[in-house]
Amino acid sequence: MERTLLLIKPDGVKRGLVGDVLTRIERKGYSIVDLKMVTATEELLGEHYIEHREKAFFPELVEYMTAGPIVAAILEGARVVEAVRSLSGSTEPTVAAPGTIRGDLGRDWGTGQIENIVHSSDSPESAEREIALWF
Ligand code: PPS
Repeated sequence: MERTLLLIKPDGVKRGLVGDVLTRIERKGYSIVDLKMVTATEELLGEHYIEHREKAFFPELVEYMTAGPIVAAILEGARVVEAVRSLSGSTEPTVAAPGTIRGDLGRDWGTGQIENIVHSSDSPESAEREIALWF
């Protein structure tokens, strides 16, 4: 069965949105097969976002992702990677479609830092790599 990694980022945890996000996943019919709260280190984030490590936004991304605890979940189901990307919506909260997690709940304060609530793996191969990092 296919698996994916879902991270509820520090803004989602701080704003009390863990239940809302997980309810959307469960209502859609996917299983939560593991769940934990983690405080990310810069080292872990450097591995997780390996392809973004050299980008200009990486320092802000680390600051955002270390601002508080993260809820990490392993989700399972048929085509779950694609489904959770679709439930999450596009990266930028302002353009993410209403009805998606980011479209309904994400925020953009116009400071250059977006608060987009969740991360989800972009392929089954990334999912297995990321699950091994976080669990
Ligand atoms: S790129 O350059 O288009 O490949 O990058 P992108 O896929 O858009 O983003 C990669 C991850 O970095 C996060 N990101 C940000 N977070 C906070 N603030 C800013 N400005 C910002 N820019 C990019 C983005 O959400 C992606 O992380 P995940 O966890 O996959 O959502």
